[in-house]
Amino acid sequence: MLVPTRKLSRIVLVLISFTILYIFGVHNHLFEINFYEDFHYPYDGNIEPLVEQLKNNLTPDVPPINSYNFKYYRSCAYKCNNVKKLKLVYIIKSAPENINKRIGIRQTWGYEKRFSDVEIRTVFLVGETKTKVLEQSLDEEYRKFTDVIRANFTDSYYNNTLKTMMGLQWVNKYCLNSEFYMFVDDDYYVSTKNVLRFLRHPKKYPDYVKELFVQVPTFLRTKRELSNYEENISRLYAGYVFQSSPHRHFTSKWYVSLEEYPYHKWPPYVTAGAYVLSKHALIDMYYTSFYTKHFRFDDIYIGLLAYKAKIEPLNCDEFHFYKLHYNKLNFKYVIASHGYGDPQELLQIWTEQKSLGNA
Ligand SMILES: *[C@@H]1O[C@H](CO)[C@@H](O)[C@H](O)[C@H]1NC(C)=O
Ligand SMILES: *[C@@H]1O[C@H](CO)[C@@H](O)[C@H](O)[C@H]1NC(C)=O
Ligand SMILES: *[C@@H]1O[C@H](CO)[C@@H](O)[C@H](O)[C@H]1NC(C)=O
Repeated sequence: MLVPTRKLSRIVLVLISFTILYIFGVHNHLFEINFYEDFHYPYDGNIEPLVEQLKNNLTPDVPPINSYNFKYYRSCAYKCNNVKKLKLVYIIKSAPENINKRIGIRQTWGYEKRFSDVEIRTVFLVGETKTKVLEQSLDEEYRKFTDVIRANFTDSYYNNTLKTMMGLQWVNKYCLNSEFYMFVDDDYYVSTKNVLRFLRHPKKYPDYVKELFVQVPTFLRTKRELSNYEENISRLYAGYVFQSSPHRHFTSKWYVSLEEYPYHKWPPYVTAGAYVLSKHALIDMYYTSFYTKHFRFDDIYIGLLAYKAKIEPLNCDEFHFYKLHYNKLNFKYVIASHGYGDPQELLQIWTEQKSLGNA
């Protein structure tokens, strides 16, 4: 039987359209659940008392549904021991082979003695590798610098959440005496000076620094300084905040099925390349992880922990998750920028910004 060509081409057109819609996951979007109206992520009960019980070393009424069991064969436990109170600890997620990036960071923004009156520590997180040569090189690096924390999980992109959770757990085990913790990838530029300025008044950065350079009548200045005390940052989770939706088209590197996550939005989260947690935020998020199902994207998982712990992320545009093109003047207030994995380039711009008083 012959189908008229016009009819046939119409059928073909419809089929092609459906295929395209399917590939782009449009049908998936139709079945998404509204995040704002009906969000549940296991464990689905009131976790607040359970988290309190765990924090206080009591047996919780409901056993945890998730836990991370790391063996630290390089714990760097001494790092935070030799001083009573730290201001800031850099926890740098690093790939095993990136020894040159780590050297670059130690020489620049990771330098612990940058300020004589501010106690800073720098550690790197690295998992296990399969190659003997790399392991030997990491052993040697450890003997020299004793700042690379190692635990027993395979170091790979898809184990990123494990690496982040290793960081949170390490703090809870070995380094609870700092006010703030900054998690950074090993291909970032960071200005320690601006991190510290930011932490003084996170909600007013960089405006309050800009105002310091302007002549303000004394009576106004007093008022301004007083208003800064309104900030309560005992539970700080800050960086560049995203309010985005899951990718539903199959070809995406970040494709997520409805079974894995059925909601139309992610909880608000800070991009994983650079973010700051205060001690109390970190502790609460760590214990919340015992009642939060594992998720493979680490920034989303941290976002889920914060959401369930009722910690609101604070956005600051001076955390740049892309490579901010460098020039001498536009880095004045930059806290962090992605894309500076070349140690030579990092050293060059960091040295210049330091001499300008911005790093
Ligand atoms: C790491 O070691 C811990 C404690 O010995 C163990 O429970 C866990 O299963 C190990 N993890 C891996 C991925 O081998
Ligand atoms: C980590 O990733 C590797 C492969 O990428 C996988 O085989 C392994 O099971 C993952 N988990 C742990 C705990 O190492
Ligand atoms: C700040 O918030 C915490 C809870 O997040 C609370 O316990 C504390 O009392 C608050 N501090 C001030 C000064 O309001």
